[in-house]
Amino acid sequence: MSTLIVENRAGQQLTLPAQASLTLMDIMRDNGVEEILALCGGTCSCATCHVIVADEFADIVGAASDDENDLLDCSDHRTGTSRLACQVVFSDEMDGIRVKIAPED
Ligand code: FES
Repeated sequence: MSTLIVENRAGQQLTLPAQASLTLMDIMRDNGVEEILALCGGTCSCATCHVIVADEFADIVGAASDDENDLLDCSDHRTGTSRLACQVVFSDEMDGIRVKIAPED
C-alpha cells in the first residue's frame, strides 16, 4: 500500500494508507483528518482542502487548473506549491508524498 504523509496544523506527521485514483482530500477524510473540512465535497468551490505540497513532490503533482488557481488566490496562505487536495488524484508514483495542511483562512 502506498502512503501519503500529512503534517497537520499542530505539526504532527500522519502517515496514511493511500489508494490510487482517490483524491488527496478523500484519503485524508477517509482517515479521519478533520482539519480538511472539504465543505464543497470536492467540487473545487470552497478551498477548505488547501494543502502545501513538499517542494520535492511539486513536479509529480503537476499544475493547478485555472479554476483551482483562482480559488487558491483567495487564500492569505498560498505558496508556490499550494494545491486543493480535492483536485489532486493520488497515483502510485506519488508514494510517500508529503503535504502540509494550510492554515485556516
Ligand atoms: S473540497 Fe472544496 S475545494 Fe476542495
